[in-house]
Order: sequence, then structure tokens, then C-alpha cells
Amino acid sequence: MIKIIKNEQDTKKFGLELAKELKPGSVVALTGDLGTGKTTLTKAIAEGLEIRELITSPTFTIVQEYYGGKLPLYHFDVYRICDTEEMYELGYEEYFFGQGVCIVEWADLIIDLIPENAVIINIKYGKTPEERIYEIKNYNA
Ligand SMILES: Nc1ncnc2c1ncn2[C@@H]1O[C@H](COP(=O)(O)OP(=O)(O)OP(=O)(O)O)[C@@H](O)[C@H]1O
Ligand SMILES: [Mg+2]
Repeated sequence: MIKIIKNEQDTKKFGLELAKELKPGSVVALTGDLGTGKTTLTKAIAEGLEIRELITSPTFTIVQEYYGGKLPLYHFDVYRICDTEEMYELGYEEYFFGQGVCIVEWADLIIDLIPENAVIINIKYGKTPEERIYEIKNYNA
């Protein structure tokens, strides 16, 4: 399905709603160009999971773990990954098929590893600086 996001507040609302549907083992795969709002959406989902810690995107860490909320959150940013082998080295299966929620920024770089039932959100820029177009699979917003 396609959803038009008018502004950042809409992104936040979407993330809070999506968080309600997430369960242990849920994977949310985010794709979209630089600055389309993958981290902003991740922060909203984290807020929906009642995680109070600050969500950051450190340059050289592929996965950040947050345990303060309703479910563990594993935030992947695979932008700098060179080879999917790196995902095996960090034991991605323990995360993807574990007891927490995984959010993956730049999921297209490891698309072969993304589970079939993952919520996939491809974000595109819209007509205004704040508009985004979400192309969503496996979730009815
Ligand atoms: N509708 C919107 N949704 C999300 N962010 C928006 C929106 N409109 C404007 N923005 C702005 O766009 C920027 C999005 O940055 P963000 O870091 O979330 O993007 P990103 O996709 O994670 O980037 P990167 O590719 O570097 O990881 C922020 O500065 C935010 O304020
Ligand atoms: Mg980001």
C-alpha cells in the first residue's frame, strides 16, 4: 500500500501506530535515500515501544540494542556494510528471529537476509520538503 506522509509529525504518528503492531521477532526493513527519515521513523517506533533512551546512528556500529521498553529493540544501520558476511559475523539470526523487534535502515543492502514477513517500508521524497511517500508491504496502516 501507499501512504502519503505530510510532515515530520505524520512520521511520528505513523511510527507510534506501527509500534503497537510489533511483536517479538518482528522485523521492520526501511529503505530510501539519505535523509528521507529512516532514523526519524525509528525514533518514533522506539517511543511507541516506550524506550526512553536516545536513539542514535553511530557510524561504525551496525546494531544498537535497547532494552528499556516493552520489547527489546535492535536498531540496525547497515549503510556501511560491505558484504552480507558481516551480518553473519555479528550473528544477525539471533536478532531477526529472537525475542525483540528489529528495525533495519538501508535494508536494501542486505535484502536477501530480510525475512519474508518483514514490514518493508520504502520511503521516497514527496512534493514538498516535508512530504514523504511510504510504499509499505506486510502492514496495513
Ligand atoms: N516527513 C518527514 N519525516 C521524517 N523526517 C522529515 C520529514 N520532513 C522533514 N524531515 C527531516 O528530514 C530529516 C530526516 O533525517 P533522518 O536522519 O531521519 O533520515 P535518514 O533516512 O535516517 O538518513 P540517513 O540516510 O542518513 O540514515 C530530518 O532532518 C527531519 O527533520
Ligand atoms: Mg538514518
